[in-house]
Amino acid sequence: MIESVDLFSGMHLTFRWLHVFAGIVWIGHLYFFNFVNVPFQGAIDDAAKKAVNAKLLLRALWWFRWGAMITFLAGVVLFVLNYWYTPGLGLGPSALFTSGEGITHRAMWILFGMTLAVIMWFNVWFIIWPAQKKLLTGLAKPEEAPGLRKRALLASRANTYLSAPMLFGMLAPAHFGVMESGSFLFFVALALAAIWWAIAVSFNVAKN
Ligand code: HEM
Repeated sequence: MIESVDLFSGMHLTFRWLHVFAGIVWIGHLYFFNFVNVPFQGAIDDAAKKAVNAKLLLRALWWFRWGAMITFLAGVVLFVLNYWYTPGLGLGPSALFTSGEGITHRAMWILFGMTLAVIMWFNVWFIIWPAQKKLLTGLAKPEEAPGLRKRALLASRANTYLSAPMLFGMLAPAHFGVMESGSFLFFVALALAAIWWAIAVSFNVAKN
């Protein structure tokens, strides 16, 4: 017979796996849109856009928005399992959420990561997707198309910038811990510089 503790940790790991798997699908497509598709759209003419865009981008947007939804839902479940539930005691702040000294560093980290991630999820479902749906299915009036394009691009860019600190906030609870250590700032700055450099170089790829 399966022990209830085994059942709890099995469920925990399954949701953790689903969460990270769906997160890869979501953020992978976000990077495809920003680092591959934006320069690509600048390099093709209107005829090519007409032939390619709806077929390619509607499919990519399907994976993108459902990846975001599954990540979000599995993330909320993970939050409850980790921080708002104790086996045997039931719902309520767990030992990972509060200690004798109040809210834990671990909880502060995940609340930081979750705040950024929920803003990103909102941008996907309530700004980027409604705008792209209108543009790609021909529902947008010609005069509203530039505004919709700008709105979607801004939200998508914002999500790209938020993704790096958001991921730090996801990983830090289990793998870093302390909120006020100074050394991590150095590594964050180093990582951001490396990412910045990769993006700058990638925009020159295939330019002739
Ligand atoms: C959309 C809202 C999101 C919510 C509510 C959420 C929530 C959570 C929670 C509660 C945890 C567990 C933290 C812990 O171990 O203490 C977690 C971990 C994690 N999340 Fe998220 N998350 C979200 C979005 C994302 C996104 C977009 C990604 C991108 C890939 C992501 C990647 C991860 C990773 C890699 C972990 C750590 C897994 C581990 O250390 O075992 N999350 N998330």
